[in-house]
Amino acid sequence: MEMWNDIRSILFHETTILSRLDEMAREITTEYRGKPVTFVALLNGSFVFLADLLRRIPLPVHVDCIQVSSYAGTRSSGKLDFRSAVFPNFSGRHVLLMDDILDSGLTLGTVRGKIASQPGVRSVKTCVLLNKQVPRKTELEPDFSGFTIGNEFVVGYGLDYNEHYRNLPFIGVLSEEAIQKPASETK
Ligand code: IMP
Ligand code: MG
Repeated sequence: MEMWNDIRSILFHETTILSRLDEMAREITTEYRGKPVTFVALLNGSFVFLADLLRRIPLPVHVDCIQVSSYAGTRSSGKLDFRSAVFPNFSGRHVLLMDDILDSGLTLGTVRGKIASQPGVRSVKTCVLLNKQVPRKTELEPDFSGFTIGNEFVVGYGLDYNEHYRNLPFIGVLSEEAIQKPASETK
């Protein structure tokens, strides 16, 4: 259980997350009943969230993923790197854009803009598991949000620090020592 030693405190246990997902799934089901909706998840961070939320929604939805990255270590690099070869077309669809966490808003804001500018897209809404309370460059409040957190760096349940800790079943705050650890020790 070496990874667990790097966690300073647990913010949300798995059972807490899953009961919040039950509530979010009900809201989302109400919103999209009878509408052609595509869930678009931003990878890698949202794969656990996507899998658990989707299985609570009894509607005939489409699912797509876009691989994008902006973070290096515990900071946003300030620019977005699209890693998917093709950007899917969502003409005729309602889109629910999902991400693990909303921080500066660069990621969700940029991707939302790209999708909204496609001809024939019916609507674009956003859904995040965590909403970090920080001053944002863009006005962006998620349409669906799991939990609000302070301005601290969290890992687990899909969220990473330099690609580590995604497989922790809970969401926790990383210790200062773990953040300082040289990359060679965490490989
Ligand atoms: P934004 O573009 O600044 O809103 O940052 C969003 C992206 O940065 C998310 O998709 C996450 O991958 C990453 N991120 C932001 N805050 C954290 C954090 O506390 N832990 C892990 N990843 C984070
Ligand atoms: Mg990340």
